[in-house]
Amino acid sequence: MGFLVRIIFFLAAAVALPAAAESRIVKASFGQVDGQEVEIYTITNAHGIEARLMTYGATLVSLKTPDRAGKLAGIVLGFDSLSPYLSGPAYLGASVGRYANRIADARFSLDGVSYQLAANDGRNSLHGGTKGFDKRIWTAEIAGDGAVRLHYVSAAGEEGYPGQLTAQVTYRLGEDDTLSIAYEATTTAPTPVNLVNHAYFNLTGDRSKSILGHQLKIAASSFTPVDATLIPTGELKPVAGTPFDFRTSQVIGARIEAPDEQLVLGHGYDHNWVLDKPTPGALSLAAIVIDPDSGRSLEVRTTQPGIQFYTGNFLDGRSVPGGSVFARRTGLCLETQHFPDSPNHAKFPTTILTPGETYRETTVFAFGTVK
Ligand code: GLA
Repeated sequence: MGFLVRIIFFLAAAVALPAAAESRIVKASFGQVDGQEVEIYTITNAHGIEARLMTYGATLVSLKTPDRAGKLAGIVLGFDSLSPYLSGPAYLGASVGRYANRIADARFSLDGVSYQLAANDGRNSLHGGTKGFDKRIWTAEIAGDGAVRLHYVSAAGEEGYPGQLTAQVTYRLGEDDTLSIAYEATTTAPTPVNLVNHAYFNLTGDRSKSILGHQLKIAASSFTPVDATLIPTGELKPVAGTPFDFRTSQVIGARIEAPDEQLVLGHGYDHNWVLDKPTPGALSLAAIVIDPDSGRSLEVRTTQPGIQFYTGNFLDGRSVPGGSVFARRTGLCLETQHFPDSPNHAKFPTTILTPGETYRETTVFAFGTVK
């Protein structure tokens, strides 16, 4: 298409948009996977906050927020083009499913039937298997003011999971400077479900900088210790007196190298905290992150019972086609979730969704600044 023609098309499209609702959302092509189009949606609010989402993996590609001086910069790890995502193993910003985090020995039983999944993390299953929800193309629609909704239907038997799962995620950027991510799912047969966003935050606005200087508070009195393969032992261990106590704000790097068995097993922080929830299932405060240099703050609220705080220990800076993976500890994840390996732990809150029920979980990221 000629340049002029493209401009005319663009102007026509812009004029055709209704004033209030959709004017904050722009849709474009982000490339192709196996001949299938991948779309990218850019949502902006009146304060200049901008979130970009693509249909490959229902992924949060970029997020810009102001620092204390009002300067906008990107605060999540991601790429400018599609190709590095296709070989990037770090789940940057992706919607992870059908079961985020690990399932021990890639196996679980349900109603007396044993299900075998792909072992893609040593002997365990990680983040939905070989081709999880993060590697699928979702379909998207603009869903009102500041919101984009993405859909994916996971066939019965896909990656070894029972039941056809119909999943959707709605990203909504509000004028109150929040980005909410709401997951919903229904199934045709009982199945474990754990849908999680895997954004890596770096509030400095400079993705080459470490996140170890960020301050973090996690509203949790206990966590789930892990074995050498990062599978929970089943214990809920009090954080009191350990480097896992973030009930008051702590500098992330202050204790990360402490001679603590759990930190050694996790190669840093890579654990699930058990959130102190006034009402189970209701939206409540999970974590607050502050970057003292830029002044940016991030508050995380969720309906979920747990949060995986991961310090990007496996990021290794290596090259991938079209880009390079970010360096170790240049991003931190706050993956609001059900506990890892719940299908094999009867005492953990259940993750089994049955036909007739609707899975609903919401996480809100609220952006601000401190002096
Ligand atoms: C999660 C896991 C980590 C790692 C990352 C992806 O946070 O807990 O161990 O697998 O995802 O690299």
